[in-house]
Amino acid sequence: MAGALALAVPAVPAAAPPPFETLRWTAPGAELAALTTQPAACLGTASVEIQAGEALFNSPRLLGGQAAKAGLSCAGCHVNGRDNAHFLMAAVSDRAGTADVTHSFFGAARGNGRFDPVAIPDLARPGKVSRDSAGGALESFVRALIVDEFAGREPTPAMLAAIAAYVRAIAPCPDGDPPVRRALDDQLRLTVSALRGAIGMARRGDAAAARALLAAARHQLGLIAERYPAPPFGAERRDLLAASRALADLDGKAADGDGFTTALSTWRAGFENGLAQRLRRHEARSLYNPANLAFVAPQQDNR
Ligand code: HEC
Repeated sequence: MAGALALAVPAVPAAAPPPFETLRWTAPGAELAALTTQPAACLGTASVEIQAGEALFNSPRLLGGQAAKAGLSCAGCHVNGRDNAHFLMAAVSDRAGTADVTHSFFGAARGNGRFDPVAIPDLARPGKVSRDSAGGALESFVRALIVDEFAGREPTPAMLAAIAAYVRAIAPCPDGDPPVRRALDDQLRLTVSALRGAIGMARRGDAAAARALLAAARHQLGLIAERYPAPPFGAERRDLLAASRALADLDGKAADGDGFTTALSTWRAGFENGLAQRLRRHEARSLYNPANLAFVAPQQDNR
């Protein structure tokens, strides 16, 4: 009987299922929804500063400790600055869509010793923390989150200002916020935002912020790679890795002024005119296409 059952199990696809980072904090049963849909983002305006803030908000490297290890960024909980109905991490959630951000799991400094998860708020709605730029309450709140709750490194004032500017720009959508499809363009847009931000920060002499934005761009390239498995995308994966390494090589040069900004502009032009175009051409065959993800839900193992 056991043998017959084993034979009835469908054959495992030749390539092992790709390890999608987001499934580390996704409720069982919601895998496909989390991988294919997202709450809509309706940014009022998108200055270079806001774009830099959004890129940092999406970067696990902004945080430290357990969050960074898991690949969790602000956007893991606040997808597109909104909420995440599918968020579930055993150590910090009691049901999907909740998290305890005063828990010593992420960073000992802020642990209050109680397990008290609450619904992850949609940052497009007014909340407890004033968005008024005069008092700087949002900046202080975000700084405490990064440093105390998530054990991240002290952000520079320009990084904090950018994240706060982004949070202030998050707005509800006029059409009632229907969820939207995830697409390659999400990652391409954030990659370019991060690079623009890195150039802006380097010009202001903020090398630490420029480096944080390089890391943010590299994270987006990694997310693209998740969606282009080999085979058939061996060449694209190699090129993504090479592009990411080229950015890593610039890390030590963030204080070089013109040399750094010229190198980043060159990288960006090469990426946008080359690899990004190829990725776009193949998007329908990639795992951004929900039709190619049908195998995901039953096979993923959730923590
Ligand atoms: C593990 C999930 C999680 C992560 C990661 C996370 N948040 Fe939150 N965030 C929450 C929860 C839950 C609350 C509600 C806390 C409360 O009400 O006490 C919250 C509250 C907030 C608020 C206040 C909203 C209000 O009521 O005015 C802001 C702003 C915010 N988060 C921004 C951020 C930023 C910026 C980051 C990254 C540095 C971040 N969050 C990372 C879960 C998360």
